[in-house]
Amino acid sequence: MIVLTGSVKGGTGKTVLAANLGVERARAGRQVLLVDADADQGNLNDWAALRSESGIDPAVTRVLLKGRDTAQQLVRLAEKFDDIVIDCGGFDSQELRQALVVADIWIIPMKPSQFQIWTLEKLIELRSLAMGFRPTEIEGWLLAARASTHPSHDDRAALETVVRERGLEGFRVLSSVIHERAAYPVAEGMGLGVSELPRPDRGVRNAVDEVTRLYREVFEDAAETAVAPVAA
Ligand SMILES: Nc1ncnc2c1ncn2[C@@H]1O[C@H](COP(=O)(O)OP(=O)(O)OP(=O)(O)O)[C@@H](O)[C@H]1O
Ligand SMILES: [Mg+2]
Repeated sequence: MIVLTGSVKGGTGKTVLAANLGVERARAGRQVLLVDADADQGNLNDWAALRSESGIDPAVTRVLLKGRDTAQQLVRLAEKFDDIVIDCGGFDSQELRQALVVADIWIIPMKPSQFQIWTLEKLIELRSLAMGFRPTEIEGWLLAARASTHPSHDDRAALETVVRERGLEGFRVLSSVIHERAAYPVAEGMGLGVSELPRPDRGVRNAVDEVTRLYREVFEDAAETAVAPVAA
């Protein structure tokens, strides 16, 4: 399975999400490759290097990919690993365009702010460009991420309203939500996923619960209906 976290907006939580999904997949016994396709920042690569230097088990393999043969490299690497999780930078890049051609799952973490909603046009364009090179459909899975924990805020519902009002085809809003929680940067700084944090307090447990829910939704429920063949 090739999973991509990619959007054209910075700081939405793509790298944190890639790291946590990679950890959950590895903990499920899968051989996971993390691909950092945002080589200039290299955040995912640095996180995975820290994990490896700290000897954290399970291990995840990492690689930096850049340039016009990214899709080709991904296809080659997919033969050697059970799963690949690709993290792209928060902008339109050659790597994002290439990853979209070969990904099975595309997760787009976002908040329902106007600035982020304006990026939807670009995402629609990138999806249709990728479809020209794919044998199968790909859906963009919008994830309410870094969502407010305030009880009166429902970032997911707001995102759903935007998608419904615009009649967006080829995109859906995931049921899961990733909230803004201190556990994520804490785990990130230790080369861990939130589910690996020692002595979990309530905040950490909430983060673990939502990552587990997202993991199930992405890899178990939604994946079954995701890759519909393109009509001949
Ligand atoms: N759910 C979360 N709760 C709290 N902090 C978060 C969460 N997700 C990400 N962060 C923090 O927000 C910052 C940006 O997150 P991250 O690097 O994952 O975003 P990104 O979308 O990959 O950014 P870029 O577009 O620059 O690659 C980091 O400092 C990270 O620790
Ligand atoms: Mg990033």
